[in-house]
Amino acid sequence: MEDVSTLVARQYEAFAYPQPFADLKAEISKGYYQVGDPSLYGPVLWPRGRPEGQLRILVAGCGTVQAAYAAYMNPGDEVVGIDLSEASLAHERFLQDKHHLKNLTLFKGDLLDVGSIGQRFDVILCTGVLHHMADPAAGLAALRDVLAPDGVMVLMLYGATVRTGVYMLQDAFRRMGIAQSSEGVVQVRQILKELPSRHYVQDYIRAADELKEDAAVVDTFLHPEDRAYIVPQVMELVEVAGLEFQNWVDNFPYWRNGGWGPDSAIAAAVDPLSPTDHWAAVEMLGLAAGMHMFTVRHPGHVAQVDFERDDWRNFVPHWAPGLARKGRGLFQRGPYELKCSELEQFVIDGADGTRAIGEIVGVPALEEVPDEFGRRYFEHLWKLGHLMIELP
Ligand SMILES: C[S@@+](CC[C@H](N)C(=O)[O-])C[C@H]1O[C@@H](n2cnc3c(N)ncnc32)[C@H](O)[C@@H]1O
Repeated sequence: MEDVSTLVARQYEAFAYPQPFADLKAEISKGYYQVGDPSLYGPVLWPRGRPEGQLRILVAGCGTVQAAYAAYMNPGDEVVGIDLSEASLAHERFLQDKHHLKNLTLFKGDLLDVGSIGQRFDVILCTGVLHHMADPAAGLAALRDVLAPDGVMVLMLYGATVRTGVYMLQDAFRRMGIAQSSEGVVQVRQILKELPSRHYVQDYIRAADELKEDAAVVDTFLHPEDRAYIVPQVMELVEVAGLEFQNWVDNFPYWRNGGWGPDSAIAAAVDPLSPTDHWAAVEMLGLAAGMHMFTVRHPGHVAQVDFERDDWRNFVPHWAPGLARKGRGLFQRGPYELKCSELEQFVIDGADGTRAIGEIVGVPALEEVPDEFGRRYFEHLWKLGHLMIELP
């Protein structure tokens, strides 16, 4: 039996993923961005402010684009990418040459051996990788050992609830002996068309635009090693590695909001819970976390947003990447729509990343508005993931 790294490497040699593209500048100008990028998500990675000076960024399991993208977006920082797949690294090199990315170094290898590079990193990005390892805890431990004392890791693991149907099909396809090949992809596509409309995978397929690409079909349905997590399992993985959970990169799927208002039975039941139990319960009720993206640090170094703090007026809100004003009283961020009143729109417009909440709501026009409105409305926007909060 071949080891998991060999099987996984073989898949990504034959079906490099994600689908590569040829020009970072062109894609970025059309609105492309990567969730968790340090240049865009500063307040999430460093709620107390980004450290001064040049950062050393590791992109572990970089795939086809992520390391070049990180180098392009963070030109003042040094980026190292590592991956098992030569095909993926070849595309990273292509983008490196095309965009003259002198701040990027690429290594072929297993992230379990990342210590042999002999460097410590201020930021580690590892998204969509650990859940493909035979022992994700060993992978996380290897990354922890190269994380600088005040460093931050951005991790992404699959979410189990949304992928339930995917695992049913992986099981069936494995029994059928469907190979990771062009013929295998054709066979999978034919079988998907014949599934009943009540199959657990149907919602997933409807939402996964990328399944147009063969590499995504292989990555989703024919992966040799693939597991997924629920919130308590995320917390356990982090704790076992001796790390501390800091925050979700996008709060939206984890807090009670959206459909369940403050008067709902669900609000009454989940609002009193501790954050971790609240997130775990909301995950099971909402079935909205197809992936868990979050940051961790060494114990004692995390900074967490808490609107019960007395100094909430000094919190500085920033628009989350992707948030856009669509019209009067209407904002959009990816699939999420936000309707708001004139007053609410005024305060969202004021959240430009330079002013504290106290300054935004402390204008004469809002004199009559109770102080508590500012606190609770900004908390609401943060729990929706539409705002990132920088702490004083
Ligand atoms: C699903 S892709 C994700 C790529 C990239 N992180 C992203 O988010 O776009 C997984 C990548 O991790 C790499 N990989 C998987 N296991 C690895 C390991 N043990 N060491 C290094 N790379 C690994 C694969 O070769 C593949 O390129």
